[in-house]
Amino acid sequence: MKIFTVAANLQQYLTELATTKTIGFVPTMGALHSGHISLIDISKSTNNITVCSIFVNPAQFNNSADFEKYPITTEADIEVLKEAGCDVLFLPSVAEMYPSDTKDDKIYELGFLEHVFEGKYRPGHFKGVCKAVHRLLDIVICHNVYIGQKDYQQCMVIKKLAEIIDIKVNIIVCPTLRAANGLALSSRNQRLSTIGKEKAALIYQCMEFIQQHLKSGNLTMLKQSAQIALTNDGFKIDYFEIVHANTLSVVDVWDGDSKLVCIVAAYLEDVRLIDNLPLN
Ligand code: PAF
Repeated sequence: MKIFTVAANLQQYLTELATTKTIGFVPTMGALHSGHISLIDISKSTNNITVCSIFVNPAQFNNSADFEKYPITTEADIEVLKEAGCDVLFLPSVAEMYPSDTKDDKIYELGFLEHVFEGKYRPGHFKGVCKAVHRLLDIVICHNVYIGQKDYQQCMVIKKLAEIIDIKVNIIVCPTLRAANGLALSSRNQRLSTIGKEKAALIYQCMEFIQQHLKSGNLTMLKQSAQIALTNDGFKIDYFEIVHANTLSVVDVWDGDSKLVCIVAAYLEDVRLIDNLPLN
């Protein structure tokens, strides 16, 4: 596996390769787990070359304590990527990613995405995601980008960003990987205790309960029963909602037809967990 830390070198290397090879790109913040590796595998199955980036992006942490606690496991990540057969790793410093002073931060018009759910609870978060992903897409010349559905709203944001910056890459949303008990794999799970990891599966169980009991008509009671179960078990909920899959608008009364997704953000043991489940 080739490792690049200098943006211009990687950009030049990939520009040449891209004329004859298809390139798949998996952007990450490291602390890699099987969910990330599944993205590498999917990329490898359809591209000649797979590039992964590891950059813990300070611009997307609205909470500095969260940034400081974010797990960094670079040495282990490199070994995992080599074993997965990743071809290229981009491992930039903050100075390499954001070389000039950031006073001239670009404005990305993300519309409603910026104001609801993750946008609302993590002000500035998606602006920071766009800043990193825009820069990465300038450097990592590629045809296909692979991102995980676990970050449902982020997937919408990255698709919107690709539209805004008018970049010709395919954004491919890949399924969420789960532990045997249903807990969505996430780098943040490392901060949960063993008991916490067991308990956190309740998020998935609640979403599954909703999926199994979904009927057209009023959804309020169904949603509330899940919210109560989580709260009673010690979760601090930011949101637990049933929303339209494309607009993220809350659905209290369902017509039995439109595409729904259950989206959740909740704290357990001071760790903020997010998850989602398409319901129909
Ligand atoms: O999902 C992530 O790991 C990050 O938000 C991303 C897409 C790599 C941007 O920093």
